[in-house]
Amino acid sequence: MKKTVLTGIRPTGNLHIGHYFGASRSWVEVQDHYDCYFEIADVQALTDNFDNPEKVKKNVYELTIDLLSIGIDPNKATIFLQSAIPEIAELTVYYSNLVTMARLYRNPTVKTEIAQKKRLFGNEGESVTYGFVGYPVSQAADITAFGGEIIPVGEDQLPLIEQCREIVRKFNSIYGEVLIEPQALLGKYPRIKGLDGNDKMGKSLGNAIYLCDSPAIIHDKVMSAITDPNKIRKDDPANPDICMVYYYHKLFSGDEVDTVCAECKNGTRGCVACKKQLIDNICKYLEPIREKREYYLNHMDEVQKILEEGSKKAREKAQMTLKNVKKAMKIDFFNE
Ligand code: TRP
Repeated sequence: MKKTVLTGIRPTGNLHIGHYFGASRSWVEVQDHYDCYFEIADVQALTDNFDNPEKVKKNVYELTIDLLSIGIDPNKATIFLQSAIPEIAELTVYYSNLVTMARLYRNPTVKTEIAQKKRLFGNEGESVTYGFVGYPVSQAADITAFGGEIIPVGEDQLPLIEQCREIVRKFNSIYGEVLIEPQALLGKYPRIKGLDGNDKMGKSLGNAIYLCDSPAIIHDKVMSAITDPNKIRKDDPANPDICMVYYYHKLFSGDEVDTVCAECKNGTRGCVACKKQLIDNICKYLEPIREKREYYLNHMDEVQKILEEGSKKAREKAQMTLKNVKKAMKIDFFNE
């Protein structure tokens, strides 16, 4: 029996290279070896975007296309929509008794997000909703509904996986061994920095390269990337370790990296030429992805069908879990 891999992603924007190298590239690798479930977490996206449902809906399709374009194969893996599985919402209600408010507020990911909200909106009481504070519980339902054993995620998600493990242990200790305790699987590159050198790449920071960016956009973005500020003239020697162009060369430029590093250090490489080489390599790398994206954009009926069939298959598994959960909790009155 293959082990079950489950992971989710919020449909709030297109995938950028930070998502790709940090997490979603490894999803493509695992689909050959495991029984894989990839969730488009639209209900979770609504916790932060409940007042902007159009945005979430649009991004459900954008993200599904991104996932198909990087090589997630619906014949190998199940891509499904969180909102199409009401069993997740039901499990969330049952699990909510197993978590204290104090524990939710202590979750480092939740804590960071609350601090961000405070910075943006001021008063915590007015911006932090019940649904938001509870999303780790809902995420535990995402994972356990499908018997997820291995959860490939970025580093920032570790506290949520830990919280899920605690819920599983608590459930099993009270009601009996029903749920599977999941394990996080970290990607090779835990976090990819932004074009400006910021530790995080993101839409709100304006420092991301998207998988769907055109060559012209990639050109402009790389040209604006931060390099060693002490390198004034073309033939000044420089320190590649503080240069974002070198940082991305390491991701995209294969064997060329050693030359890039050596020439940068000894001053035989100008930044403009170095950036152009990187632009070419990024464009080459992303071209097959962009081509597949074009195909799916012109075949939206296929995209719709993949989501619908994936959700149907995923739901069958969630229904089984829910049945076992209700039986264990002694709320299985009518044998449905
Ligand atoms: N919280 C995750 C994120 O923001 C998305 C997510 C939803 C998820 N459900 C999940 C991740 C289940 C792993 C498992 O990226």
